[in-house]
Amino acid sequence: MAWTDRQRAMLRAMGLSVWTPPGAPIEAVADASPALPEAPVPSPPAPERPIVPIRAAVAAAAAAEPTEALEPLAGEVATLDWSALRAAVSACRACALCESRTQTVFGVGNPSAHWMIVGEAPGEQEDLRGEPFVGPAGQLLDAMLKALGLTRSEAPPQQQVFIANTLKCRPPRNRNPEPSELARCEPFLRRQLALVQPKVILAMGRFAVQSLLRSDDAIGRLRGRVHRYEGVPLVVTYHPAYLLRQPADKAKAWEDLCLAASLLER
Ligand code: URA
Repeated sequence: MAWTDRQRAMLRAMGLSVWTPPGAPIEAVADASPALPEAPVPSPPAPERPIVPIRAAVAAAAAAEPTEALEPLAGEVATLDWSALRAAVSACRACALCESRTQTVFGVGNPSAHWMIVGEAPGEQEDLRGEPFVGPAGQLLDAMLKALGLTRSEAPPQQQVFIANTLKCRPPRNRNPEPSELARCEPFLRRQLALVQPKVILAMGRFAVQSLLRSDDAIGRLRGRVHRYEGVPLVVTYHPAYLLRQPADKAKAWEDLCLAASLLER
């Protein structure tokens, strides 16, 4: 997508950087950064994984009691391929959220996406539809992604992001996730990150940050610089639901997205 003159004028007026999405003619945006690099040659498909750990992980996820130690489930999940991971998530009964959910919300997007976006937990609409970020916060997220030439819809891995949450089940009445729920769900997010192997991670909001960076610092202190998760560059930004309440901070979120995009140019 090329910026129109009006959009560019508006972004400049807000003091925001202008981004050239992949494929856009550079000369159309005089002061923009270069387009994203070519996609790397895809690696050959991973060999079939043994079936036993997959069955064991689904069974462990289905049978888990909130009082059980976390390690066995985490160990099994770390070996799963995509379809087994999806099955393990939907069978999971490791915390009480399984009692109130309509369905689990696994994640959406390109399994080899260059961008992985991590949010907090499904809300009401996500719980009903089984897809992350489909409510008002999701519409804002989609608009921000579109401004960078990114999408959750079918596209090559440079453009199609993968979106996941720290929790795969909706907390009742959208309350904050409990530390024990975050801990029990973490193996699923870890495995998703290991399978996607993104080139950049965008952590939105404090629960994503707590899970991925083990930090309780405020977003305002963590944003604006590059962190690392297992060696992968990670940029912290505000959660879109917060931005809906505090639109003045949208400009900072845009800067964070531009910072993340700039990492893929290098
Ligand atoms: N907020 C999140 O963090 N995730 C969703 O899926 C929806 C709202």
